[in-house]
Amino acid sequence: MIFDTHAHYDDEQFQEDRDALLEAMPSLGVGTIVNVSATYESCLHAVELAKKYPHVYAAVGIHPDEVGVLDEEKFAKMREFFKEDKVVAVGEIGLDYYWDNESHEVQRKWFVRQLELAKELNLPVVIHSRDAAADTMYVMENYAKDLEGVIHCYSYSKEMAEEYVRMGFYIGIGGVVTFKNSKKMKEVVGAVPLERILLETDCPYLAPEPFRGKRNQSSYLLYVAEQIAELKGISAEEVIATTEENARRMYRLDPV
Ligand code: NI
Repeated sequence: MIFDTHAHYDDEQFQEDRDALLEAMPSLGVGTIVNVSATYESCLHAVELAKKYPHVYAAVGIHPDEVGVLDEEKFAKMREFFKEDKVVAVGEIGLDYYWDNESHEVQRKWFVRQLELAKELNLPVVIHSRDAAADTMYVMENYAKDLEGVIHCYSYSKEMAEEYVRMGFYIGIGGVVTFKNSKKMKEVVGAVPLERILLETDCPYLAPEPFRGKRNQSSYLLYVAEQIAELKGISAEEVIATTEENARRMYRLDPV
């Protein structure tokens, strides 16, 4: 079944129908969802969703656009969430020089702190990196050598994707690969072995064709799987089965 490795169902865009949607997911072919925190408040919401639904897990961490709110006290409070059963990763964490909400120095500081937290807790990491290719690689090479994880919503070159794969990381592929102008992402999918690809929505954002611009949801990953299948000359079923195995391995859940 489809494994959505990166979703934000705590987002207010799901306010009206969150429960109905999440309850329906298994009947739409979606077996597992990891709800990923971004803001400080969303850590609690992610954990609550994981408690409520057997097929939902949580990642806890602070997105680079949001790290400005962090101090030692909040960081210590955030750590408490990792005592919960279904928290499977630290994320999403990283660098975002596109929105540039926080200084690069502050972003790098909390990125490194959260990588060290993952090391201490022995958990995989969910990495967000936008317009910060070189600095992200630098931090990963120096602070994430022994870690596992995914470069989520991957947007850089195929050469850099291959480098991350050599380092033992997975590449997160979502709706963007179905866009007509996504030549670069199609090259990335061609270059990365299927065993290192994860499916992700980043919902409510980045819906694939034919829903581009609309609210995204985990079941739309079928269209992403079909696109990857076409690029690799295999069936969508094989893409769904292999990426599910990959996700369970990375998040350390029992094999299906
Ligand atoms: Ni995200």
